[in-house]
Amino acid sequence: MSTVSTATRPTGIPVRRPNVDLAQADIERWIVPGDPLFSHLLAALSAVFPNGEDFFVESVRNYRSKVEDDPEMKARVKGFIGQEAMHGREHRAFNVRLAELGYPTVALDRDILRSARRLQRLPKPVQLAITSASEHFTSVLARAVLTDEQTRRTLFPAPDGELLITWHALEELEHKDVAFDLLQTVSRSYVLRMLGLFLAAVGFGRVVAVGYARGVLADHQYLSRSALRRNRHNFRHQQMVGPRSWLAIAGYIRPGFHPRHIDTDALVVEWRERLGPALTPNRISSGAM
Ligand SMILES: [Fe+2]
Ligand SMILES: [Fe+2]
Repeated sequence: MSTVSTATRPTGIPVRRPNVDLAQADIERWIVPGDPLFSHLLAALSAVFPNGEDFFVESVRNYRSKVEDDPEMKARVKGFIGQEAMHGREHRAFNVRLAELGYPTVALDRDILRSARRLQRLPKPVQLAITSASEHFTSVLARAVLTDEQTRRTLFPAPDGELLITWHALEELEHKDVAFDLLQTVSRSYVLRMLGLFLAAVGFGRVVAVGYARGVLADHQYLSRSALRRNRHNFRHQQMVGPRSWLAIAGYIRPGFHPRHIDTDALVVEWRERLGPALTPNRISSGAM
């Protein structure tokens, strides 16, 4: 249960960026030390974010005119677009560094672009439903990262990597319900919402899985017994990947589901404060719509 009173409930969807050059991020060959399997998984996720988030932005931007007369929703949509555009930009920089270290981020970036373009041929409500489902997925991961210190210590031990992920996670929670609420104004169809979930898994999830498998295969010579042991250990010491997350993701199937039923206000308040000095406010939000 949240400990945040109504008076201190976090408001607004501000756009900011980390105060570091992520193209020069100080990280090791294995993002997760001694663990090629988790390292490739995190690299694959980072690789698909830029084009994936461009898709989210476009699917929401399609409905700009619909929120024109609703100042509150208009501001939320604007914040969503500004934050996601900035996530894409910073992950692009980080992916340059990952490519330098040997991760196949360039090929994955191309694959996800191809997949996003195919999804963009679908009717606009379906595209928005895909974004709404994907936003639920990212907010589940974000909550695991921000609530559990052991997850952060295990998966993001380098300060630059931790800053990128905690900043991104904080903002995913700040705008977690924007695409969902917008979808509700377009259509309340349960079938459409489920179609979005299915297509998000097929269109984006599949690319991550295939890209991950390709990266691991290319580095199979590093999968020593000790690396596998380290992976098993890490798996037990993190909450981002595992049954708890799968269950939370499956919550989206519930007919009465709404992202706000999962209370993350206290987390947002806490992390706004913790990350404040490491972030720069950005004016990209003005006119980003
Ligand atoms: Fe994002
Ligand atoms: Fe998002």
